[in-house]
Amino acid sequence: MDSSPLPPQPDRRNFLTKASAVVIGAALALVAPVAGLMVFLDPLRRQTAAGGAVLVASLDSLAENGEPQKFSVLATRIDAWNTTPNVPVGAVYLQRLTGRQVRAFNVVCPHAGCFVDFREANNCFHCPCHNSSFSLDGKVLDPKSPSPRGLDDLLVEVRNGTEIWVHFKNFRAGEKARIPV
Ligand code: FES
Repeated sequence: MDSSPLPPQPDRRNFLTKASAVVIGAALALVAPVAGLMVFLDPLRRQTAAGGAVLVASLDSLAENGEPQKFSVLATRIDAWNTTPNVPVGAVYLQRLTGRQVRAFNVVCPHAGCFVDFREANNCFHCPCHNSSFSLDGKVLDPKSPSPRGLDDLLVEVRNGTEIWVHFKNFRAGEKARIPV
């Protein structure tokens, strides 16, 4: 009596081959649309160097114990297609205190997002939109100011002796707490 197993039936072998081909074909067919979708959504994942430290100015451009000076913040924008240097992402006031001590404020008013001015005559920051005013250290100066918080200070590093690098961030306007955006 012959006990060897029977060879697979031709119909069953054909079915398995076709099923495998369908599964592999479907997987390959998904690759292109998924890749296309990722490219389409890529602008949402764009980054700028603004999240880290940005070189803003030279220490030599600020007088010791001088008035705050406004500087644009330029950063490198990176996406799937391009790396674009020197894209304006905001502006800061820098004030040099003694030695290499520098303080920085985002120029955006925390009330509703206007740019604040520095008023030499009053030695304070002033927002022209709704008259918020801020002292040199960024605190709300006038209790009637509608701004819910003081100016947003930013971390500063002086590198290589003279380079002023600012950890630039924007914050949500109209909130008492500083919420990065
Ligand atoms: S936006 Fe500055 S006071 Fe309103």
